[in-house]
Amino acid sequence: MSHAPKGKGNATFPRLAGQHAHYRIKQLLVFQRTRERPERSIMKTVAHDLTAQNMRDVAD
Ligand code: HEM
Repeated sequence: MSHAPKGKGNATFPRLAGQHAHYRIKQLLVFQRTRERPERSIMKTVAHDLTAQNMRDVAD
């Protein structure tokens, strides 16, 4: 389970569907590069090893 079927989100996993790719990439960069979220939080772990190309690919 992650961002719910079709990315529409739920109480735990925020909506991704319909967001701009630019916004999704920015959020992945925030998770990867800042201390906005603690180490070992879910999306910090997911974003940890993504390259810029990976981020564009998953955001698309
Ligand atoms: C590569 C696939 C994924 C992408 C592109 C992605 C993208 C994102 C983005 C952009 C956000 C921020 C949404 C916002 O703040 O408006 C987010 C948050 C979140 N994602 Fe993912 N995600 C992915 C995989 C996963 C997986 C596999 C899980 C769970 C197993 C997960 C769990 C969460 C949770 C719990 C949040 C809220 C985290 C927080 O605000 O601290 N995501 N995700």
